[in-house]
Amino acid sequence: MDEVGRIFGDVGLGQFHLILVHPVERGDYLAVDDEVHGHVLCQLDDLKRKSDLEFERAGALGPTDEASVHQSLLGVARIVGYRDDQGVVKCPTVPFRPGARVYRAEEPLIAEVLGLKRRSNSGAYVGLLRNHNLRVELDINQLVQRHVSVLAKTGGGKSYLLGVLIEELLRHKVTCVIIDPHGEYGSLRAASEKTARHARFGVESQGFARQVLEYSPDVTLNPTAKPLTFSLRHTDPRDLLVFMGLANVKTFLGPLKQLLEQVGAANPDYTVRDLVRAAELSEGAILETLHERLEYVEESKLLGPVGTSLNDLVQKGAATLINLRGIAPDVQELVVARLASTLFDNRKKDKIPPLFLVIEEAHNFAPQQGTATCSRILKNIASEGRKFGLGLCVVTQRAARIDKSVLSQCNTQLILQVTNPLDLKAIAQSIEGLTDGMTEMIQSLPVGTALVTGGGYHTPLFCEIRPRATRHGGESVQIVAA
Ligand SMILES: Nc1ncnc2c1ncn2[C@@H]1O[C@H](COP(=O)(O)OP(=O)(O)OP(=O)(O)O)[C@@H](O)[C@H]1O
Ligand SMILES: [Mg+2]
Repeated sequence: MDEVGRIFGDVGLGQFHLILVHPVERGDYLAVDDEVHGHVLCQLDDLKRKSDLEFERAGALGPTDEASVHQSLLGVARIVGYRDDQGVVKCPTVPFRPGARVYRAEEPLIAEVLGLKRRSNSGAYVGLLRNHNLRVELDINQLVQRHVSVLAKTGGGKSYLLGVLIEELLRHKVTCVIIDPHGEYGSLRAASEKTARHARFGVESQGFARQVLEYSPDVTLNPTAKPLTFSLRHTDPRDLLVFMGLANVKTFLGPLKQLLEQVGAANPDYTVRDLVRAAELSEGAILETLHERLEYVEESKLLGPVGTSLNDLVQKGAATLINLRGIAPDVQELVVARLASTLFDNRKKDKIPPLFLVIEEAHNFAPQQGTATCSRILKNIASEGRKFGLGLCVVTQRAARIDKSVLSQCNTQLILQVTNPLDLKAIAQSIEGLTDGMTEMIQSLPVGTALVTGGGYHTPLFCEIRPRATRHGGESVQIVAA
């Protein structure tokens, strides 16, 4: 092993200081030879250059003067541990000796202690350990049973990474339902262009056209989708007002209920057309508005005598995209609320396969402040879904704005670059084992590198995300030609 430095000063059980004779990067893995336990894996958490150049001397230097400076590179390393005879990761209970040599850790030690092994049946290959040729494979059972969050600032690579994750779930025939507010995930059908990075990561381009289903409440705007409809009879009058785009419940709820009663008494299997006709025949300004908005609902085809069949919507081993592009935010919330409740109820009765429910832009659907129509059901799924094989994956650019109880239930976090201090605070509070050094590193992560916590690993690790096998659908819009 290459020696990189020596331990000095007071040595703790969790971390120690070292003087470096060879530069290493923050986040790099190191090893210390412990007398009792052999090689122990450590990670460089912080770096500092110490010098004897004082403020006064630096200030007195002329523009061409060279300073004679004594300097040294000092590091703080965190002890990750060693594997004992039973395969359990432990940390030594006696501190290392000051003066002990510190080495650059070799890959077999890193792989053994971090638990980077091939899980052919249950592994979601998301990328390589940063600066190493070691595969990071998340345990799919953990992902689905214990929920996932994907956090990064806008443009940080969340949708790209989620695409990688869904490709892996599809390869393993895991059923997914994806709430797709921007209609970005249809590109999972098409293979990506092969690049040199594909070869480096050992990824084959591949489309999943046969395993992708797409539904949308508006098929005119989203012509690649099949219509998503809900049963009119099972729609609460308040929800019907949301579908109609009418926010003033006080004014409209009473007259709408009367209309529903009147039409329902004449024909229990009434349609939106029947409601339109009845409203048209009634007099008054309120009914005129109801008439106009019911015509809009009829046009949208969102409410039918029977809703989209759940057996068509959810199919084993397929990813169902719920394309909400162009749908009003309150209608989006209602669609998510109805869908999430139906999925949860049917999962409880085991009528649909175990599945992974992905919510993009989750801060809009389960906000920390205020409520969305679907907040409650999403909180229920976050706290109880795992008992019923309903995994939740929330994706957001604002960790501070998503409901904390939802975020804290996510045992696997995939974090890309985050710079907003409030978001960083929310992340630090919801993750165990995150050091100050890691929190600082999150702020300067390059696009395509993620901090992975959970997912079957006992310690957070940095992962360079693999290229997509499918095309990425969330490309930024070019404003002017380059
Ligand atoms: N792992 C990666 N490898 C290569 N390119 C990437 C990677 N991740 C992201 N990118 C590039 O960065 C851009 C932004 O990524 P992405 O659309 O995933 O961001 P986002 O976090 O979902 O943003 P938003 O919050 O706006 O939805 C993409 O156009 C993509 O080309
Ligand atoms: Mg995105």
